[in-house]
Amino acid sequence: MNNTLAIEKIAHIGRTNWPGIITAIAILIISLASQLQATPLRTESNFDDGWSFARFGKMPGGEVLAEPKGIEKNEFNTNDWRAVKIPHDWAIEGPFDAKLANETGKLPYAGIGWYKKDFTMPAEAKDQRHFIHFDGAMSHAQVYVNGSKVGEWVFGYNAFRFEMTDQLNYGGSNTVAVRLDNPDQSSRWYPGAGIYRHITLISTQPVHLTQWSTFIRNKEVNQNEATMQLSSQVVNQSETSANTSLEYQVLFDGKVVQDGKLASQSIAAGKSASFETQIQLAKPQLWSPEKPSLYQLRVTVKSADVAVDQKDFTFGVRDAKFTVKDGFHLNGQRVQLNGVCMHHDLGPLGAATNRAAIARQIRLLKEMGSNAIRFSHNPPSKDYLELCDEMGMLAIDESFDCWRKGKKRNDYGKHFDEWHERDIRAWVRRDRNHPCIIAWSTGNEILEFKTGGEGIEISNRLTEIVRSEDDTRPVTNGVSRWQAVENGMGATLEVFGINYHHVKYDIGLKAFPDTPFYASETSSTFSSRGVYTFPPNVKNKKAGLTKDFHVSSYDYSAPHWGAPVDQVFLRLDKYPSFAGEFVWTGFDYIGEPTPFNKDPTNALNFDTEKEKDAYREFMKQSGGAPSRSSYFGIIDLCGFPKDRFYLYRSRWMPNEPTLHILPHWTWPDRVGKETPIHVYTNADEVELFVNGESKGRQKRQPSSYRLVWNDVAYQPGEVYAIAYKDGQEWQRCTVKTASDASKIELSSDRKSIAADGYDLAFITVSIKDKSGITVPRSMNEVNFSIEGDGEIVAVGNGDQTSHEPFQASKRKAFNGLCLAIVRINKGATKPITLKATSSGLQAAEITISPSK
Ligand code: GAL
Repeated sequence: MNNTLAIEKIAHIGRTNWPGIITAIAILIISLASQLQATPLRTESNFDDGWSFARFGKMPGGEVLAEPKGIEKNEFNTNDWRAVKIPHDWAIEGPFDAKLANETGKLPYAGIGWYKKDFTMPAEAKDQRHFIHFDGAMSHAQVYVNGSKVGEWVFGYNAFRFEMTDQLNYGGSNTVAVRLDNPDQSSRWYPGAGIYRHITLISTQPVHLTQWSTFIRNKEVNQNEATMQLSSQVVNQSETSANTSLEYQVLFDGKVVQDGKLASQSIAAGKSASFETQIQLAKPQLWSPEKPSLYQLRVTVKSADVAVDQKDFTFGVRDAKFTVKDGFHLNGQRVQLNGVCMHHDLGPLGAATNRAAIARQIRLLKEMGSNAIRFSHNPPSKDYLELCDEMGMLAIDESFDCWRKGKKRNDYGKHFDEWHERDIRAWVRRDRNHPCIIAWSTGNEILEFKTGGEGIEISNRLTEIVRSEDDTRPVTNGVSRWQAVENGMGATLEVFGINYHHVKYDIGLKAFPDTPFYASETSSTFSSRGVYTFPPNVKNKKAGLTKDFHVSSYDYSAPHWGAPVDQVFLRLDKYPSFAGEFVWTGFDYIGEPTPFNKDPTNALNFDTEKEKDAYREFMKQSGGAPSRSSYFGIIDLCGFPKDRFYLYRSRWMPNEPTLHILPHWTWPDRVGKETPIHVYTNADEVELFVNGESKGRQKRQPSSYRLVWNDVAYQPGEVYAIAYKDGQEWQRCTVKTASDASKIELSSDRKSIAADGYDLAFITVSIKDKSGITVPRSMNEVNFSIEGDGEIVAVGNGDQTSHEPFQASKRKAFNGLCLAIVRINKGATKPITLKATSSGLQAAEITISPSK
C-alpha cells in the first residue's frame, strides 16, 4: 500500500474503528520508512573506479594519432583501452623527451585523452536527480552520458559537475565518456594531464541542496562567542511546488553543540530559494595552525515536513584579518606569515592528487616552521585544502596566472572573457568554507598590471564577483609590475602582494598607505640538493651554476629578479607592517627549471656581453639543458630537504634549536683546498671545530641565520659545531667524512597505511658507508621489488636533470638518496615488503602493514 492509500484509508475509517485506524497508521509508517530506505536522501559516492583510457592526437614521441569518430556514442571499439586509476595523470608516465620544452617538464602532456566508464543504474533511481562531479580534469573537458553531451569545462584547475538525470538508463547499463584536450603552449610549468582529481557520483531527491549550497561565514569571532552566518540554497526540481524548511545542527567532536530550524518557504517547481540565519556559538573552539579545531554543520532539508536531503559541511571558527600597520592577525594575535608558494604537482606522482603525498608535504613544511601556503597560481585540489584545514596551514587561494592578456599562446587568456565569471564563482563557492583560506588572489603577475587601462575594470569586476560569493576575505594579487603603483591597478587590491622587488617595499607602502601588504613571492633562490661549488660567492648570483646543469647549495644563486634568502630576511625585518612572505617555492616542481629553462641568459643578467655569449655558446655546444624540474624548492622534488630548509627553520622556529652544517665533508678531490663551512642556525653563538681544532666562536647578527668560516682547508675527518643560547650550550651537530658506499638503508614516513587503493608510504633510500654515514655524492642504481599484495607506484631522486622514468622499479641515487613510493593494494590484509638491492652494496628491506 502506498502513502495515499494509507491516508485514504484513515480518512474513510469510521470514528469507532480504532483497530482499523491503528493498522492504517502502522501501514503508513512502514510505507514511509521503506521508501526512505529505498531512496536515500542523498548519496555522494566515490566514482574513481572502473575507468579505461586511451590517448590520441599528439602522442609521446611526437607522432600524431587520428582521433576516431564516435567514441562518445559507443560506436568505437574500446576493448583494448587501458584500465586506469583515477586520479590519473597521463603524462607523468613519460617518457621524458629531450625535444620537449624544459618549461613544461619535457613530459608529453599535450594531446587528447579519452576516459570511459560503464556502470549500471537501478530502476528505483529514476525518481532521483543524478550528477557527475569532477574535482578537476586537465583540460577542456567534454562529458558525454550515453552518447549525449552533458557539459563542458575549459579550465583544468576548477571543479565542476553536470546533471545527467535525463540521459541515464534506469535499470540498465550506462556509459560515461570524457574527452580532454591539452593544447601545447598552454602553461609556464608542468600542468599535468587527465582526470587528475577525484570524481563523485551524486544522487539526490528532486528537492535538494544545490551544488556548493551552503556557506557558513565567520562574522564576529572572539574567544567568548562566535556569530556565524549560515546561507543555504535549496532547489526544487520536482514538478510541483514544495513547502520547504531547513534544519541544522552544529557538531563538535561528534556532539551537537547547537541546532535550529528555519521558517519554511514555498519553492515553485524549477525554482530555488535561499535560507539564511545567524548562529551563535558560545566559547567557540577557535581554528589556528597550532590547534586546527573543526566543526561540522549538518543541514537537513524538509519538504512537507519530510526529510528530503541532508549533508554535512566542515567549517572552522576563526577571526582572520590583514591590518595596515601590523601585518596579519588571527584570533586577535599577530601571526607572521611564514609561507611558501606551491605548484600543484606532487613530484614523481605528477599532478594526480593524493592525500598521503599532500599530508607528507604539509608535515615537512610544518617541521620547517612554515604556517602558510600560497597556491600558485591556480585552485588546488579539494584534498589539499581539506588537509590544510585538518593539519593547520593558512592558505592564499589563487585563481589565475593570466587574465585577458595571456602569457602563453594557448593559455587561459584565450578563454578569459567567456569563462572567468563561471570560473571565479565555482572557485570561491567550492572553497569558501575552508577556515585555512585567508585571502582570494585573483591573479599572479597579471600583465594588465603593467598597462592599467581596461585592467582596472577587470580587476574591480573580479573583486565584485568574489565579493558577491564571499564578503569575509580580502582580494589580493601577486604583483610584479611596478607600474601598478602609478597606473591605478594597485589601488584595485584590498591586500597588496608584492612579488620580489624587496628593495622597493617602501615605495609600495608609501603609495598605498591604507592597504595591508605582504610579500607574495620572495627569493627564488635555486639549488640542487647536495651540490656545492667553490668558492661560494655571495656577490654573484650565478656563480653557483655547474656545467652539468646543477646549482650550488650554498644558497647564493637566484635569478636577477630574485634575491638570496638572507637579503629578504633583512628587508622583512625592516618593514614589520608586512604580513610576511611566501617563498618561491616550498618544494621543487616539475617544469620551469630556471636557470636552465629556455634561454638561461634571460634569468641571469650576465655582467658582460662576452660572458653572456660564452654561456650561450656553452648551452649550444651541450645541446641545451636536460633540466625538467625546478631548482627553486626549499625541499626537492622527492621531499628531501635542501640546506635552505634549515635557514628558514632557524628563522621560522625561533624557539626550537636549529644547527646545520654545510657542505658535506667528503671531498677526496679537495684535500688541502679551501672549503668554506657555513652554519645555518638560530643560536646566539656557534663554535666550530674541524678535526678537533677550534676554528673560532662567532656571534649571529640580527636578521641573519648564517655563519661563515672561510678559512678551512679540507682534510677528511669531522666537523662539529656547538651552539649557544643565552650563554648556555643549546645544541651540537657533527658532519663526518664518509668512506666507500657499502649498504642501503630504508626508512618509511609511515609504518602502516590504509589498504584503500589510495594511501601511500614514502620510503627514503640512503646509500651508506660501513659506519652508517650517508655517502654524499653516491649515485648507485637501486633495484626494487615488492613482496606481497602491493605495488611500487613511483620512484625518484630529486635530480632535476634525470630523464629516468618516475614509474619504474629502479632508480639511481642522487647525492646519496632516492625515493620509492609504495601502495598496499585495495582490500589486502597482509603486510608488504619492499626490497632494495644494488650491485656491490648490502641489500635492505622494509615492511609496511595495512592499518586497521
Ligand atoms: C615569478 C612567477 C612565478 C615563477 C617565478 C620564478 O615571477 O610569478 O610563477 O615563474 O617568477 O622565479
